[in-house]
Amino acid sequence: MSVIIAPSLLAADFSNFAGAVAEIDASGADWVHLDIMDGQFVPNLTFGPKLAADLRPHSASVFDVHLMVREPENLAPAFAQAGAGYITFHAEASLHSHRLLGAIRNLGKKAGISIIPSTAVYYIEELLPFVDLVLVMTVNPGFGGQVLIPQCLEKVKKLVKIREEQKLSFLISVDGGINEQTAGLARQAGADVLVIGSAFFAETGKSTLVTRLRG
Ligand code: DX5
Ligand code: ZN
Repeated sequence: MSVIIAPSLLAADFSNFAGAVAEIDASGADWVHLDIMDGQFVPNLTFGPKLAADLRPHSASVFDVHLMVREPENLAPAFAQAGAGYITFHAEASLHSHRLLGAIRNLGKKAGISIIPSTAVYYIEELLPFVDLVLVMTVNPGFGGQVLIPQCLEKVKKLVKIREEQKLSFLISVDGGINEQTAGLARQAGADVLVIGSAFFAETGKSTLVTRLRG
């Protein structure tokens, strides 16, 4: 299976999101990644479920929602209603992660868990049988355009090993600092999904970029 490419709207022109999802669909990428920031869990703000709902008819792609918020259980239902395919939240932001993963699946959505660079894989190990996706942050969340922290890719390798040992089937996603150079490292480590923000929107030849990212 080819790697899934998920361009992030965080790097789009915020005055033209409909144009941005049209560009993503036309590029041959697979998913639209929506970064939800609350100014609390991360020191930045983006947008909420209304934007996702309003964009839904403008795109045929899966909406991959990444909640970088405190108390994600308050927002997950609204994003399910807005047409998210995957809803991923941070293990560091939710005490009852297991309960929320179940709630997301009960809403008929794929459930994802994410960890920031300072969180080890073992912190989420007990949750792995209950997730559809693990999002490994390869930068500290909050801003696009940062440099990938290569040590974070070791976590991808660990997750691949655990997935094999336990015969699980979750996808492994990497997010932060992905570009043509680092995409190869992420693929080699075993990533199934590449989230790409600034490097995608900075590129004029988006479909050839997507092809090259797939390796
Ligand atoms: C960072 C976000 C990322 C961001 C990646 O907090 O979670 O999804 O859009 O942007 P780049 O690809 O520019 O690092
Ligand atoms: Zn993200």
